[in-house]
Amino acid sequence: RITDLHAVEILDSRARPTLAVTLTTSEGGRIHSAVPSGASTGSMEAVELRDTGRSRYGGQGVLTAVGNVNGEIAQALTGRTFSSAAAVDRALIALDGTDDKARLGANAITGVSLAATRAEAASGGTALWQHIARRAGTSPRLPVPHFNVVNGGAHAANGLDFQEFMLAPLGAPSLAEAVRAGAEIYGRLKARLASEGQPTGLGDEGGFAPDIDRPEDVLRVLVSAIEDAGYAAGREGVALALDPAASEFREDGDYRIAGESLTSDQLIDRYEEMIENFPVWSIEDGLAEDDWDGWTRLTARLGSRVQLMGDDIFVTDPATIAQAVTRTVGNSSLIKVNQIGTVTETLEAVRICREAGYTQMISHRSGETPDAFIADLAVGTGCGQIKSGAPARGERVAKYDRLLEIADAHPVDLRFGVVAP
Ligand code: PGA
Ligand code: ZN
Repeated sequence: RITDLHAVEILDSRARPTLAVTLTTSEGGRIHSAVPSGASTGSMEAVELRDTGRSRYGGQGVLTAVGNVNGEIAQALTGRTFSSAAAVDRALIALDGTDDKARLGANAITGVSLAATRAEAASGGTALWQHIARRAGTSPRLPVPHFNVVNGGAHAANGLDFQEFMLAPLGAPSLAEAVRAGAEIYGRLKARLASEGQPTGLGDEGGFAPDIDRPEDVLRVLVSAIEDAGYAAGREGVALALDPAASEFREDGDYRIAGESLTSDQLIDRYEEMIENFPVWSIEDGLAEDDWDGWTRLTARLGSRVQLMGDDIFVTDPATIAQAVTRTVGNSSLIKVNQIGTVTETLEAVRICREAGYTQMISHRSGETPDAFIADLAVGTGCGQIKSGAPARGERVAKYDRLLEIADAHPVDLRFGVVAP
């Protein structure tokens, strides 16, 4: 039974407002959750409600969304007994009444949904990840962290068009060893960049933002940093993963990279060369969200060799992922709760992926808080992969640290590693 619901405007890691929600239930006590926020958002994402009028935070305030939680949503939920967190999500979706959660705001709804899931876990006395696994009918597993150590695109002010370059310690024997590899290579990377006269300032996700334009030049530095730290560059050791976030550098139907203008097929050629020359095992948003024909050809050409993950193109939407499956677009989906707005719909997206043989990676947003919900979500869904930025900065490390604590408490019963599709 929900006895109280309250939201407050707080700051995210980019000095932009977001929501913190406190939900009190008679069975689970007081539960706190905070909402992340993206910068390179897919156009079909559920709508994040920002205040109109530029006088506060340049128009980025969330007092309207906060007011919706404290007003309409609290009125509708407080004093009511729900059979499950899924029932709370259904009530939120019905109350909002729109397809894209634009009326009450996906940020308002996400905050309440995260808290409702936590309250349900607390009322049953189970850890959040265990509760999620039970609810989703999945086998829990510790995910391979994907550390975003070089930032470009919408997340940094450099000239690098690709948004994310990640270290994927696929060959690590344990989560703790994977975290150690990420942190050690991060340190070596900093030293190497500094020795090449590169700035070592950070982007939004805690990765370095060097003045390098060509993605291949970043990949070369990363392989060197992996080897400097004493690891093998490759799937047996530490592989690489890319999120070019290609929607962000598409102009008039072409892709603009480091001064060049490429067609979809030329960009696919470029990816093929990268796969041949560097240990890239996963490419997220390799093509733009509206380039479905290009995605079909990308999948036909490279889908048997690398993971081709949809983020902006799928937006954690079960219906869109189902459509991608029928059109053989991609073979993997990124999963972000606030892209769709409720935990229930997020778990539905995971289920559709699983049944179709699409792998999944649970993800943070570029604007984050110390809330580590996604660590439990990754373990509970058993998807085997997570990305939460660099192995540095509190809001990124909070998720990896939560994973380390779960791993420590379950040394034998939780397996670590990616899941074959
Ligand atoms: P965003 O970026 O949180 O800024 O949308 C993350 C991503 O593209 O994966
Ligand atoms: Zn992405």
